[in-house]
Amino acid sequence: MTTASPVLTVDGPGGSGKGTICRLLARDLGWHLLDSGAIYRAAAIAADRRGIDADDGPALLPVAARLDLRFEAPATADGDVVVWLDGEDVTAELRQEQTGNQASRLAVIPAVRQALLQRQRDFREPPGLVADGRDMGTVVFPDAAAKVFLTASAEERARRRHKQLKEQGVSGSLTALLQEITERDARDRERSVAPLVPADDAVVIDTTGLNVDQVLDRMRELLSRKGYRVPTPD
Ligand code: C5P
Repeated sequence: MTTASPVLTVDGPGGSGKGTICRLLARDLGWHLLDSGAIYRAAAIAADRRGIDADDGPALLPVAARLDLRFEAPATADGDVVVWLDGEDVTAELRQEQTGNQASRLAVIPAVRQALLQRQRDFREPPGLVADGRDMGTVVFPDAAAKVFLTASAEERARRRHKQLKEQGVSGSLTALLQEITERDARDRERSVAPLVPADDAVVIDTTGLNVDQVLDRMRELLSRKGYRVPTPD
């Protein structure tokens, strides 16, 4: 039965390493992957295309409810998922800082979150799901088999984002990034609905000073304590 599929939720602020960790774990487990931030980001792009302000709840609602969104599996194991919105490839635009900021503005609106809820739950299919977001363990999949909350200092997260953007050929100031990250964190943490907080039963891992392999090891340990073995790639 679909609802019985196990879910691993990975929540935390931007730049905490969730995206990379979730992609690798989903690959190793052979489970599906939900990048819920991409759904909020796509909603922000859809609103922008229609000239709708990211704070305009009543106008955003029908857009969020009827998002024509499709995720295409990457061509290679290390590749990025391709995101199609209204039949257009929006993958590059989706990753821009500005899109993330717009997404975090519309994400404070309860009705918008509600409109996107079922779309996220629909990703839960056998053999299992790795769900990356802010409220995966608290709201979307409260019955998840294992819950992790990844954190890292704002400075470390800004450094990581800066490096990531540089690798994508995007230049930007570290100071400006740090400020954006701090503002986005505050918005995500202080909103009234589904704020960014660890679920009561989440294991909190501070990834400051840890590399990807070290974080993955901790997650493998957690999953194996819960009875799920994560095969290690050769
Ligand atoms: O994770 P990502 O940076 O792609 O998310 C963009 C924004 O979407 C976040 O800053 C947050 O405001 C919102 N979001 C959310 N709930 C989620 C995922 C993302 O509110 N589950």
